[in-house]
Amino acid sequence: MSDIFLRSFPTDSERQKRVGHFFEKSLLPSLSKSDSDFFDLEIGCGHGHWLTEYSTSNKQLFCVGIDLITKRITKATAKKEKRCLDNLFFYKAEAQEFVSLIPKPIQIRNTFIMFPDPWPKKRHHKRRIIQQDFLSLLHSRTIENGTFFFRTDHEPYFEWTVEKISQSSFWKTSEVAFPLEHNSYFQELLPDFKTTCASPVH
Ligand SMILES: C[S@@+](CC[C@H](N)C(=O)[O-])C[C@H]1O[C@@H](n2cnc3c(N)ncnc32)[C@H](O)[C@@H]1O
Repeated sequence: MSDIFLRSFPTDSERQKRVGHFFEKSLLPSLSKSDSDFFDLEIGCGHGHWLTEYSTSNKQLFCVGIDLITKRITKATAKKEKRCLDNLFFYKAEAQEFVSLIPKPIQIRNTFIMFPDPWPKKRHHKRRIIQQDFLSLLHSRTIENGTFFFRTDHEPYFEWTVEKISQSSFWKTSEVAFPLEHNSYFQELLPDFKTTCASPVH
């Protein structure tokens, strides 16, 4: 995260308070107005190309896109505002932190991770977002008939993810169709990719 951001929110508890504020003041009031208690989440949404299209085609759903990079969230928010999408939120946040702070009354339905940073060097594999702890955390915040979608152009990361899912006692590979084919920024640049998806085990 950027230095300015870390200077403004230097401790874990200040960052957690900030994310808590997003749920309390933005997402929860919108969900409760619509009598809904779940949302769809895109982790690493970048400039919001894909999620803006998805939420435009699914106005009855609430969608949240998070990313670590402020500029990307600013650009994504401009897209949301241009289209007047009240069901769409973009927020700068780190995935583990954000998911772990989702308040009890609400849960995630679908999670999308598209073209995540592949961290190709072996010594950097621990930085990949797909790890057993993450899958377990995501499961704990996902509704029973939710789905986790993963798409990448990086074959070794694809295999890594398929393996982590098969080793997880919380998820099983499923064959739910990807709900919207529309290029994300990286998909436009990298048309050769693979997709897998998983359903929570209950
Ligand atoms: C390669 S880009 C892909 C962006 C977009 N999904 C697309 O397909 O165009 C990966 C994005 O994930 C974000 N990211 C990486 N680690 C993250 C994390 N732990 N939490 C939230 N976002 C993260 C990066 O900032 C970056 O914007």
